[in-house]
Amino acid sequence: MSHRWAGQCADCSEWNTLVEEAGATVTPFQAKHNLQSGGRTMQLVGLDAEISLPERMPSGIAEFDRALGGGFVEGSATLIGGDPGIGKSTLLLQAAAKMALAGLPVAYVSGEEAADQVRLRARRLGLGHAPVMLAAATSTRDILTTLGKGTPPALLVIDSIQTMHSDLIEGAPGTVSQVRASAQELIRFAKERGTAVVLVGHVTKDGSIAGPRVLEHMVDTVLSFEGERSHQYRILRAIKNRFGGTDEIGVFAMVTEGLAEVSNPSALFLTQREEGVTGTTVFPALEGTRPVLVEIQALVVRLASGATPRRAVVGWDSGRLAMVLAVLEARCGLSFSSSEVYLNIAGGYRVQDPAADLAVAAALVSALSERPVAADAVVFGELALSGEIRPVAHGALRLKEAGKLGFERALVPAAVADDKSGLTLTGFKTLGGFVEHMLGR
Ligand SMILES: Nc1ncnc2c1ncn2[C@@H]1O[C@H](COP(=O)(O)OP(=O)(O)OP(=O)(O)O)[C@@H](O)[C@H]1O
Ligand SMILES: [Mg+2]
Repeated sequence: MSHRWAGQCADCSEWNTLVEEAGATVTPFQAKHNLQSGGRTMQLVGLDAEISLPERMPSGIAEFDRALGGGFVEGSATLIGGDPGIGKSTLLLQAAAKMALAGLPVAYVSGEEAADQVRLRARRLGLGHAPVMLAAATSTRDILTTLGKGTPPALLVIDSIQTMHSDLIEGAPGTVSQVRASAQELIRFAKERGTAVVLVGHVTKDGSIAGPRVLEHMVDTVLSFEGERSHQYRILRAIKNRFGGTDEIGVFAMVTEGLAEVSNPSALFLTQREEGVTGTTVFPALEGTRPVLVEIQALVVRLASGATPRRAVVGWDSGRLAMVLAVLEARCGLSFSSSEVYLNIAGGYRVQDPAADLAVAAALVSALSERPVAADAVVFGELALSGEIRPVAHGALRLKEAGKLGFERALVPAAVADDKSGLTLTGFKTLGGFVEHMLGR
């Protein structure tokens, strides 16, 4: 055998007796650069070749489908994360039941709850009669052996990936290597059998999905189920989607019968905001690249005596509040020095985004002047010590989210160009101009 083309056989000195083997062709380039050889020749195709679009299966819940980009994709893996008790199991059980009632084979495997607990939830949701194949199991080998027999399910829900255990490797369930190995096995099954597999993932304290970050790379779609447990509304947001965009959100309300779809989220959000309330404003915050609308509340209480006034902040930086107050005093002639100031970010959010400056200023001026900020407006912009209002990152993204949630106006830095959100923009160069606008001068 020779790796180069040769006319004469090195062993027997005969000419033209060597036969070229397809599998082991070595190009002169490979030979010269000592590159690996022996692989099979692949057929390379063009971008314009025939496409077979992935089949989509509607979940039966329109808001869920919206976040997925049109339903579950056959043979795909979806990871859904969210705080404890936010409603992941409820949402997935509802989707599983709806799909089963539509005639699809659906399996729901719970590693966290006993079968009776899941049945009880199904009954409470009015879905006890749905033909979902239910199992309480944690061994991926058992699960895949069971489901590998007969028709594979169209949808397989694994609740949760942190409770699964693969006997191919060592370690307790929930460890990084176990989570990765179990996910790998389940995803391979999904690809081979055309099943859409949904993995529930726990989240850590800081809100990221627990376990290896690589889990997010392994799956096709990552969804995050968010909301305040004390509040009714929940938002399902795509963080990554190999089959669609990530800018659509699904909105739900948690009611006794489970998660109800909210097809017009603005109604839900805006009914909580009453016209004419002073000291509050809505700020479109960004968490990473994801916009979240939060309400900023301020209360200004005038003190009669010369006691030192309190400044209390929940959910924002107190140093930053002091700065905004100082700029309002120095550049706009508004005095807070003999008043107590309380600032609160509603819903327990913590805002770290500098774009909140202008919204905080709006809430403070509104509280001081007892003039409400328009209930259908959002406010954002960064403040400089000079009183200038600076542009901020991702203005268009913030406006788009506000538009989606039903807001109609935005008070923004002058540099924010008109966009496609449909909101009416009012731009400001300085805090002075902004305060004049708010006071109706
Ligand atoms: N009997 C009930 N009536 C009304 N609502 C209920 C009832 N039981 C539970 N809930 C609601 O369902 C929520 C729990 O939902 P679910 O179990 O789907 O959350 P989860 O995200 O799967 O939580 P975990 O991370 O613990 O698995 C509770 O926080 C509660 O609001
Ligand atoms: Mg659960």
